[in-house]
Amino acid sequence: MSEISVIAGPASPDLAAKIAKHLDAQLVAAELRIFSDGESKIKIGRTSRNCIIVQSTYPPTDTHILQILMMAKKCAENGAHKICAVVPYLAYARQDRAFLEDEVVSIALIAKLLQATGIDHLITVDIHSQLAMSHFAPIDIENISSIPLLADFATSKLKLQNAVAVSPDSGGAQRAREFANYLSIDTIALKKSRDRNTGEVSVNEKLDIDITDRDVILIDDMISSGGSIIKAARLLNKKGANRIYAMCAHALLIDDAAHKIQARGIQDIIATNSIPGEYARVDLSPVIAKVLKPRYSAS
Ligand code: R5P
Repeated sequence: MSEISVIAGPASPDLAAKIAKHLDAQLVAAELRIFSDGESKIKIGRTSRNCIIVQSTYPPTDTHILQILMMAKKCAENGAHKICAVVPYLAYARQDRAFLEDEVVSIALIAKLLQATGIDHLITVDIHSQLAMSHFAPIDIENISSIPLLADFATSKLKLQNAVAVSPDSGGAQRAREFANYLSIDTIALKKSRDRNTGEVSVNEKLDIDITDRDVILIDDMISSGGSIIKAARLLNKKGANRIYAMCAHALLIDDAAHKIQARGIQDIIATNSIPGEYARVDLSPVIAKVLKPRYSAS
């Protein structure tokens, strides 16, 4: 048997297959049954000493997290020496601190649960914050940036004119700067604030540079309800932007978010295959495999 088993979690079978191919590893399917009350039951066959579980934790978020724990438990029972979880979209990373008194720091709990099942290495993509990463010790956590891949896509597929990269909030300023550097274009970070009780988002209207008739790439780690992108697009339109594109690592696009975004005049949504779907245009498997290869192929 191959020295590496890539376990294709029910949420990410295509990405797992691609990663297994890059690594020349055994691909193990996870057989899933969902009971009428929503419980998952997972069956996986024989696995080798190095197990790599691939599963993004998009909705149903808690179910997908629990399925990772189930797969890891089985790998441990099969005698795995190393268990790595590749979780491109890591849910709960936004709950990295107590924003209001008495709130639970949920990402710290997720880290403990993963560790308890024997996961010792975690690879994620564009995690929401460094602070979220800090809760994972002793799990060895690595964060991969999708920015070079998104920038490549923008360069080769979008015919941008006098473009500017815009972050919808100051927390994403560094991400937008990195993207802008690849394209040698200007960058702006909007000043967004969110009411922590109601979730209501507002954006400061003053921009640092003139964007009249310029193409805009809105760049974010994730698009969930679409609220942040829509608020930003409304302002950018008002300021005279030409074409507006939305790019992100994780296109959650809950309910009719994609429709609402397009209705706001955004030309296109471009995301990675962290979450499968119509907007998953950028394949993460080569960069994930590149990080995994030196750690697993020689052991
Ligand atoms: C917030 O800090 C994040 O970077 C995203 O901007 C946000 O989570 C996107 O969520 P939504 O699409 O619901 O506004």
